[in-house]
Amino acid sequence: MITQNTIQQILSRIDIVEIVGSFVKLKKRGTNYLGLCPFHNEKTPSFTVSPAKEIYKCFGCGRSGNSIGFLMEHEKYSYVEALRWLAAKYNVEIEETETSPEVKQQQLVADSLYIINQYAQKYFTDALMNSEEGRSIALSYLKERGFREEVIKKFQLGYNPDTRDGFTKAALAAQYKLDLLQKSGLVNVRDDNAYDNYRGRIIFPIHNQSGKVLGFGARIIKNNDKAPKYINTPENEIYVKSKLLYGAYFARQAIDKADECLLVEGYTDVVSLHQAGIENVVASGGTSLTPDQLRLIKKYTNNLTIIYDGDSAGIKAALRGLDLALEESLNVKLVLIPDKEDPDSYVNKVGAAAFTRFVAENKKDFILFQLGIALQDAGNDSNRKAQVVNQVAETISKINKAEDFTRQQDYIKQCSELLKIEESGLHALVNKFIREKVSREEGRSFREQQENEKAGTEPMDNLPGDEVTALFNRDEMHEQAMVRSLLEFGLKEWKPGITIAEHVFGEIEENQLDELIDNKELVRILKTYKAWYDAGIEPTAKNFLYHEDLAMSSLVVRIMDFNYEISPNWSEHFEGHIPTRDELYLEEVFSTLNYLKLRKIKRLIDENQRDLERSTTPEDQMVLVQTHHHLKRLEIELTKKLGTVIFR
Ligand code: GTP
Ligand code: MN
Repeated sequence: MITQNTIQQILSRIDIVEIVGSFVKLKKRGTNYLGLCPFHNEKTPSFTVSPAKEIYKCFGCGRSGNSIGFLMEHEKYSYVEALRWLAAKYNVEIEETETSPEVKQQQLVADSLYIINQYAQKYFTDALMNSEEGRSIALSYLKERGFREEVIKKFQLGYNPDTRDGFTKAALAAQYKLDLLQKSGLVNVRDDNAYDNYRGRIIFPIHNQSGKVLGFGARIIKNNDKAPKYINTPENEIYVKSKLLYGAYFARQAIDKADECLLVEGYTDVVSLHQAGIENVVASGGTSLTPDQLRLIKKYTNNLTIIYDGDSAGIKAALRGLDLALEESLNVKLVLIPDKEDPDSYVNKVGAAAFTRFVAENKKDFILFQLGIALQDAGNDSNRKAQVVNQVAETISKINKAEDFTRQQDYIKQCSELLKIEESGLHALVNKFIREKVSREEGRSFREQQENEKAGTEPMDNLPGDEVTALFNRDEMHEQAMVRSLLEFGLKEWKPGITIAEHVFGEIEENQLDELIDNKELVRILKTYKAWYDAGIEPTAKNFLYHEDLAMSSLVVRIMDFNYEISPNWSEHFEGHIPTRDELYLEEVFSTLNYLKLRKIKRLIDENQRDLERSTTPEDQMVLVQTHHHLKRLEIELTKKLGTVIFR
């Protein structure tokens, strides 16, 4: 782990204009800098960098973040990789905390495996390009299949000659240790004899995100029933099949540009499409997608298009992992290549333009596709049909993010048409699955929930309508405003001797935060704020901006929006003085805090009202009416107080 000391040193030297400026051409505009957004195509610049706030924001596509976020987004670095990049740029020596001996040992092995793989890749490439056997058997085979030399070189394809131990001998002579060579999967040992594992095979190196070789896929040249067509590197410290996608290193920029990732089955599909100029493509090796692989794709895009051959056994496997994709808000489309072709053979047959057109015209929605297959399988069996309805409802229920709400409604509509059932019925079923999921997550037992359902206490249909969603957003704006005013002004004086932070946390106790503020991320920010403040760490927006917890830092970026800055041009257009937020900060803190209190009171009034409607005894009613009056008085007082300050 990089030490806190090093991180602080790096952060103190960060210059966001310089960092972003090494990837984007920026021009000074007022206090900010302006350029063409690197994250979407645009002709007029709307990408803004604020050196004062140390953040960037694009007013076109909405992406925003700090220097580290920029490196993570633009270069697809992890947090630690971004820190390392910055350390190198600003000549900060990296100090690392002591690692345990086991972790150290593991890192040592990983480093050695990378070095061995690099050596092997060079060896195999040399054998393919420069040896008699390589050229006459392997290179000619690749060329016959239509691969040109430039793409062969780009993907660093190679050949392991068909000798018993040519590579093994060379590697041992170059001082690589036998146990590591075995671990790398390049060398096998039987009866104390070491020999090459990939004899007579074409070699596809598999790269990680930064281009280092993790392992290999090795293809037999002449089909042979006894030997497997492909052999892959066994799982080891660096080759973890569930975390990698073949071709990701060569595809990343193209995926970003196209805002779409194509997924195919095989190595040859990736290489062929690349050669045809279709570069936003990766392969999974024909197995079902894992959560890690989906996350890898989501780093680049939300749009995944799976292109498989029509009669592939892999298609069902590929579909299996996809409910997960929905939960991650990925848009998944499916294209089947016809006539027993695969993407490799099909692009070679029809050419790049026709291939691209075919994909565009034959993209099917994955949920609808799955439903189609299931319905076909079910035939006229009404039991199985009911199962299908249940399955599809469960799948749709996985789309449960607020921003995907319309998508979910669309699916319910389309699927109920395909299934020939009432839309409202499917709707209710989907809601049932959502509730089951929520109660599972809340740790409530399913039985308890079913009992509630029987007793009829749970409303059948409680999804937020559009109005409710809009209301919710407005509420959230107020919550954000309160946190923003604290982040910005918390260390200023409320009254002599009392800071704003002390005032705010005097008004609301830590354990009341959850009641006052709905957004749990915002509550988390406030709690961290309080903890930092108490510990003597400055809880400034900047410190939050560089918090390792990305959910928190990106929320802070969103809160500290550029919109709240008064344009420097204003003073030229208006005569006289326009008060700045900075000058009005006392009012701002007062109004944002009290607005939330007012909201709380209004909610209590509503709750009380409901209790009143349900109450049966006069005693109860009396108490509730008194409570109502009390709350109303509080509401009026607070409204009056708030009325004396200007709402903006
Ligand atoms: P070509 O036949 O050379 O065009 O390769 P392909 O990529 O089209 O192969 P295929 O469609 O048969 O398989 C797709 C992918 O599944 C391959 O690229 C491999 O990743 C994987 N695969 C295929 N056969 C095997 C095998 O025998 N063993 C293993 N481990 N993986 C295989
Ligand atoms: Mn093929």
